[in-house]
Amino acid sequence: MRILNHLFENNRKWASTMTQRDPNFFKRLSHQQTPQYLWIGCADSRVPANEIVGLLPGELFVHRNVANVVVHSDLNCLSVIQYAVETLRVQHIIVCGHYGCGGVLAALRGEQLGLIDNWLRHVQDVRDKNFPALEFFRDEAERHHRLCELNVVEQVLNVCRTTVVQGAWERGQSLAVHGWIYSIGDGLLRDLDICITSPTEMRQRAAKP
Ligand code: CO
Repeated sequence: MRILNHLFENNRKWASTMTQRDPNFFKRLSHQQTPQYLWIGCADSRVPANEIVGLLPGELFVHRNVANVVVHSDLNCLSVIQYAVETLRVQHIIVCGHYGCGGVLAALRGEQLGLIDNWLRHVQDVRDKNFPALEFFRDEAERHHRLCELNVVEQVLNVCRTTVVQGAWERGQSLAVHGWIYSIGDGLLRDLDICITSPTEMRQRAAKP
C-alpha cells in the first residue's frame, strides 16, 4: 500500500509542468549534468538549495548535513567535493549557512541530544575558537546569530584546506569558495564577504582574527 500518495500526485504534476515548459527537459538531463556550482548547506527543511537561488535540476550539485559542517575526514562530503571539482569541474563552491540554525544553537548551548552531539562538536570547536568575539554579545540570540556566520567562515576555510581544492588550485583550475548565509525570516541570502580563490587568499583569511 502506498500511503504517501499525495507526494506521488505532486510529483506527476511537477513532471508534467516541467515537460510543458520544455518538452526536452528530462531527455536532456538524462544524458548529462553540467552544474557550475556545488552547494554545501544545512539539512534544515526551510533551506531548499535550488529554490533559494532559482536553479533548475541539473544546475546545482548539492551536499547537505546538519549545520553545514565540512570535516576533514568526512568521506561523504569529501567525495561530493571531489566529484564536483574533478569530474563536473564546477567553478564555484558555496557554503551556505542560515540564521536560526538549530544545530548551531544546540552547539552554542552545549545541549545533549545524543549521537548528534559528536557531529555538533565541530561547531562547538568554532564556538570555543571564537569565544571572545561571542562573549562580546550579552544576548544569546545575538551570539547564535554570530555563531551561524562564524561557522560558515570556518567551513569555507575547511573546504579550502581539502586535498581536492588544494590540488585543483595547484593544477591552475579556476575555483572559488564562497561563504553565504540565508535568512529564513525574509528568504534572502547575504554574502558574508568571503570568497577564496587561491592558497594565498586562504592563508590571509585564516590569519584574520
Ligand atoms: Co541548520
